[in-house]
Amino acid sequence: MDFETILYLKDSGIATVQLNRPEALNAINEKVLEELSVVNDYIAGDDDIRVLVIKGNSNAFAAGADIKNFVNYSPREAHQYIYKVQISMNKLMALGKPSIASIAGYALGGGCEMALACDIRIAADNALFGLPEINLGIVPGGSGTQRLTRLVGEGKAKELIFLGEIFDAKKALDLGLINLLVPAARLEEETMKLARKLARKPPVAIRTAKELIHLSYDVDIYTGLMMEKEKFAYLFSTEDQREGMLAFLEGRKASFKGK
Ligand code: COA
Repeated sequence: MDFETILYLKDSGIATVQLNRPEALNAINEKVLEELSVVNDYIAGDDDIRVLVIKGNSNAFAAGADIKNFVNYSPREAHQYIYKVQISMNKLMALGKPSIASIAGYALGGGCEMALACDIRIAADNALFGLPEINLGIVPGGSGTQRLTRLVGEGKAKELIFLGEIFDAKKALDLGLINLLVPAARLEEETMKLARKLARKPPVAIRTAKELIHLSYDVDIYTGLMMEKEKFAYLFSTEDQREGMLAFLEGRKASFKGK
């Protein structure tokens, strides 16, 4: 598949989407959103793909929304634009497969929000994070006020969003914003190691776990537990459940088919 603003690669069950606007530090414009949406649908529909990796280049994951585009927006245009951003982030979050944000360099504004919409974040020690929208007289609009708060808690989210400062990967790790911090030279290798591990897991159980974890934000604990119980039972109708348990009992490695 050919795109203008992203590069797409599929190999051994792992789809890699690379943001590719190096001239603008991978700033996210409407074309990026459009292409991400297309590639997301494609990945969702391809059963051979078990994991998605999203990355930028060595000096930028993405430096946020393309400011050049929206400096003269009317409120209506801003609304239309941010609606597209939120749809794109929601699609990414709802993907029924695990996603990894592999972050080097800047992950600011919409770039940071895109990483937040992924399931797991791995960052290089040169990564820089921030939600600097406040300095432009606006607020994060691509889910930053919601997803960052859920990930790091209200107090830290307020500090980061009110001050709009750029902070390093060590602080991101301490905050729980990222899962793993690795030397920049090993980012690619460690990302793919993690992706391969996830690709070997049973896809239906992974999708189910992801859905249940997301549900936990929106429902009371008893509703969540009821859903967990139903989904737990449902997985006993899958071939992967049988394979996983038989493999354990037979002392061999399970080979999951996603059925
Ligand atoms: N939108 C559009 N273009 C952007 C951009 C953005 N969010 N971030 C960077 N760029 C462009 C710059 O305009 C510049 O283009 P030019 O060479 O044509 O002038 C190029 O990317 C390199 O950026 P530059 O600012 O020269 O690099 P730097 O190393 O001095 O600073 C940043 C890097 C990320 C600190 C700085 O670019 C920045 O603050 N960007 C905006 C971040 C932001 O506020 N994001 C949230 C948006 S809602």
